[in-house]
Amino acid sequence: MTDIREEIEKLKREKNAVILGHYYQRGEVQDLADFVGDSLALAQWAARTEADIIVMCGVHFMGETAKVLCPQKKVLVPDLAAGCSLADSCPADAFERFVREHPGYTVISYVNTTAAVKALTDVVVTSTNARQIVESFPQDEKIIFGPDRNLGNYINAVTGRQMLVWDGACHVHEQFSVEKIVETKRLHPDALVLAHPECKGSVLKLADVVGSTAALLKYAVRHPEHTYIVATEAGILHEMRKQCPQTTFIPAPPSDSTCACNECSYMRLNTLEKLRDCLRDESPEITVDPAIAARAVRPIERMLEISARLGL
Ligand code: 13P
Ligand code: SF4
Repeated sequence: MTDIREEIEKLKREKNAVILGHYYQRGEVQDLADFVGDSLALAQWAARTEADIIVMCGVHFMGETAKVLCPQKKVLVPDLAAGCSLADSCPADAFERFVREHPGYTVISYVNTTAAVKALTDVVVTSTNARQIVESFPQDEKIIFGPDRNLGNYINAVTGRQMLVWDGACHVHEQFSVEKIVETKRLHPDALVLAHPECKGSVLKLADVVGSTAALLKYAVRHPEHTYIVATEAGILHEMRKQCPQTTFIPAPPSDSTCACNECSYMRLNTLEKLRDCLRDESPEITVDPAIAARAVRPIERMLEISARLGL
């Protein structure tokens, strides 16, 4: 174990802190986390931890969700600049206008939103539970779904609904292209394509499995005999290779082969050094306006309740 890892472990014990990490984090950060998971699992762990400090190795909205659920705890994110292009594509003031223009609609928001958007929401979803939560409403329920157009359109397609979908997207998932995936399939004809529902509809159509990071991982663990082309942020390959060491995982190539844009630059901002420093300094800390938090907590808790009922 190197010095920095020992320092982090020591600080964590001294401060009764828990480190939560998303699958898109750098491998070395994932390896140090107490829990690694998808957006839903991170919210569930945050809600039940008895630690005094939560270090959210993920992006800002994940830290906000933890803070809204645990207002008495200190929530740290190693780099506060770890934002999210999808959350940015849905400013709260514009979303509020949209909601006001559609009275009588139930508002369902993806967890990749600011606390201010969640405060305008009836129920929050993640990619693990979005379809089931939408389906828990009557077929003719009038629904606004924001902000991810790809996930929203995908749910409309598989459920036959006509939700009004906000026109937002994630810059990482948007850039996967049919052309590059077909090219990769030509080199690996037996490979199955795993795709996250934040990918464009054209990519989802050619995927063998569509699911959240946790669902894609679960599929690979259950069927390790296949080769996989993975169309989501490349950080997930770390856990996939750990859990299925004999399986070949191929990251779906970015549309521009000169960039590493199948990696989320926000997620990669968190490093071991910043993790150590934030535990040592108990900063940077996530804060949420209490008035916003008071409204945002209800739709998040509703998501956790429905997920528990559905066994997710
Ligand atoms: P999940 O964690 O729900 O798979 O979503 C991926 C994502 O984009 C997180 O930012
Ligand atoms: Fe946001 Fe996309 Fe990064 Fe996830 S991968 S945090 S949706 S920018």
